[in-house]
Amino acid sequence: MCQPASSRQTTATVLFNKQLTPNQYLLRLHAPDVAKESEPGHFIHLNCHPSLTLPRPFSIMDADVEMGTLDIFYQVVGEGTEYMQSWQAGLETPLLGPIGRSFRVPDADRFALLIAGGIGYAPLDFFARLLKKTGVEITVLLGIEREAPFELISATPLPHELIENPITLARLQEQDIVSRVASLQPKPGFFHGYVTELASGILQNISAEQRLKTDLYCCGPTPMMKAAAAVAKEFNLGGQVSLEEHMACGFGGCAGCVAPIKSAEGWGYQRVCTDGPVFAINDVVWEKI
Ligand SMILES: Cc1cc2nc3c(=O)[nH]c(=O)nc-3n(C[C@H](O)[C@H](O)[C@H](O)COP(=O)(O)OP(=O)(O)OC[C@H]3O[C@@H](n4cnc5c(N)ncnc54)[C@H](O)[C@@H]3O)c2cc1C
Ligand code: FES
Repeated sequence: MCQPASSRQTTATVLFNKQLTPNQYLLRLHAPDVAKESEPGHFIHLNCHPSLTLPRPFSIMDADVEMGTLDIFYQVVGEGTEYMQSWQAGLETPLLGPIGRSFRVPDADRFALLIAGGIGYAPLDFFARLLKKTGVEITVLLGIEREAPFELISATPLPHELIENPITLARLQEQDIVSRVASLQPKPGFFHGYVTELASGILQNISAEQRLKTDLYCCGPTPMMKAAAAVAKEFNLGGQVSLEEHMACGFGGCAGCVAPIKSAEGWGYQRVCTDGPVFAINDVVWEKI
């Protein structure tokens, strides 16, 4: 994996906090020094409210060095994110970041299959756009299980009818990045089933030569990442995952965020905040998570 980021504590200013669905928001922060250092896979710690002792971790979905901005795609799940949904432009908030190790960019002749689940799309959107610049061939698969429209990535049909599941991700399609959307709810144009079944289908249908060049990249709910790791094993692939764990300090000091990771000696617990959150998919001891 890449070297850990050198994080800094700073004050960020909210530029906008746009509601995309009933409980999902796109937050844009002005934090130029952090934007400059941010890579796909890095995350930030935000102090959601002075009454909360612990900050909350959020993946960086985009960093614009010229504008000095960071985009965060978040879902309201509890006290901290409930406070965040009331943030208005101009609010200043303490921020620690960027934190962690980013995704390692593969050689330009590789094929990257990115598998995202729900809000886990955030770091993979950033990574897909970086990979596109490096010339790596990419396909992004997203599993959506919510009824609410996922406006940020509002699906639009591909401009031809020969593809079985023609719904794609508008945000990536703009950049000519191939994408597909899966859902367990039957929806026209979506792959009907788990996103990992969609990944298996693609891997079965590509040539053996293409499979040899393929790496999996994944972020989403733990059951989905376990299923993605099983796909990697079945097709003998490598790749990387971005893990989520409950966090306290965010800088490696409390060991409150550990995950079981293989090492030369067998396996041991590593800190998701500073040793990760990105790990090699085949190094995670999935049966212990
Ligand atoms: C590296 C990393 C990147 C993340 N990126 C994003 C992101 O881009 N967008 C986003 O919406 N969320 C992201 N999360 C999860 C986010 O940090 C939690 O949803 C948030 O901390 C919840 O805070 P809260 O006070 O609203 O909820 P709490 O009241 O703290 O918790 C509400 C519920 O969320 C669960 N939860 C809390 N923290 C985590 C966590 N770290 N991992 C899994 N479940 C958790 C709790 O168990 C509980 O069920 C990320 C987490 C990590 C570790
Ligand atoms: S959150 Fe403290 S070591 Fe990771």
